[in-house]
Formats: sequence, C-alpha cells, structure tokens
Amino acid sequence: MNSLQNRANAVMAFSISAIFCLLGAIALSAFIIPTSPNGLVAVNSIKVVTGRYDKTWFDYKTRDNQFANTVMQIDADLSSLFHWNTKQLFIYAVAEYSTPTHSKNQIVLWDSIIKRKSDAVIRKKGIKNKYSVIDVNKKWTDIHANVSLHWNIVPYVGFMTYGHSQASEPYAFPLPSGIQT
Ligand SMILES: *[C@@H]1O[C@H](CO)[C@@H](O)[C@H](O)[C@H]1NC(C)=O
Repeated sequence: MNSLQNRANAVMAFSISAIFCLLGAIALSAFIIPTSPNGLVAVNSIKVVTGRYDKTWFDYKTRDNQFANTVMQIDADLSSLFHWNTKQLFIYAVAEYSTPTHSKNQIVLWDSIIKRKSDAVIRKKGIKNKYSVIDVNKKWTDIHANVSLHWNIVPYVGFMTYGHSQASEPYAFPLPSGIQT
C-alpha cells in the first residue's frame, strides 16, 4: 500500500496544487496592488492630405481618400504599472470621435511595447501617426476627435488588464490652418 510510488504520487499532487494556488494568488494580486498611472496625449498638428491607399488595398483606384497626418506629444508616467507580475506593457494612442453616421469611432494612431520600468516614463515629442488615419466615410470634414493613451498590462501569470488616460480636449480635423496647439 504505502509503496514508494504512492508516496511520490501524493507529494507530486500536493506540490502541483500548491504551485497552482501560488500562481492564482500572483494573478489575483495584480488587482490589489495600488497603481497611479497618468498620461497625456496632445496633438500638435493635423494635416489632411488627399490620396490613394497603397497598392495592395482593394480600393486603390480611388484617389480622393482623405488621410490625416498627425504629430503628437506624449507625457506619461506608467512606471507604477510595473510590479512583480508585469511582463510588459502594450501602449497605444487612440483618437475617438463621433460622426452623424457612426456614433463611436476609434483610430489607433501609434503604439509601442514597453518592457522595462525605466522606459515607462514617456516624454516624447514629434510622434507621427504610425497607421493611416482615415474615417470610414473617407472625409475629414467637421470632425472633432479627442485623443487618449491606452495600455494593456501583459502579466507573467493571469489575465491581461486594460486601462487608459483621460481624453484630451477635442481637436478639429483638420486644424484650421495657422493654428498650432
Ligand atoms: C471623447 O470623444 C468621444 C466621442 O466623441 C466621447 O464619447 C467621449 O466622451 C470623449 N471623451 C471625453 C473625455 O471628452
């Protein structure tokens, strides 16, 4: 009955349960660690250019799509999001606006991955949009969008959690010429 194999089996089963409890506790601990992330995205310039999509896009023939070229500045301190269960942060700046045809539109302007706590204090100027900024209606007329910084916290164990900064004041797309914010 009490063979060596039985004992080994019991020890194994107990260790595995203990490890899972520990991992569970680490995963849950992320919800009780106080954090104080803050971030601001400001748009310094918005220029609208008219053109085509790139060649691989099905709508390549259309010449009059309006793309917005934005230049942003980000001031954020996300270092408090780095704790023992943070592997990395995925951060992205989002423009949000509504139009008469679509009440909620969100466009990712820029993104980045932060792997170290020492890189989590971000003071960056002159950030150009990394992805095409185009509305579904392909026109930027009378649209006001606010921008905010979003983050996903990628953990070592457990669930990915999300957060975002306060949104900026709405910016007119395009900014009236001559106005710099
Ligand atoms: C940002 O814009 C969206 C869409 O217009 C709006 O729903 C949201 O309330 C705005 N956020 C702030 C903080 O003004």
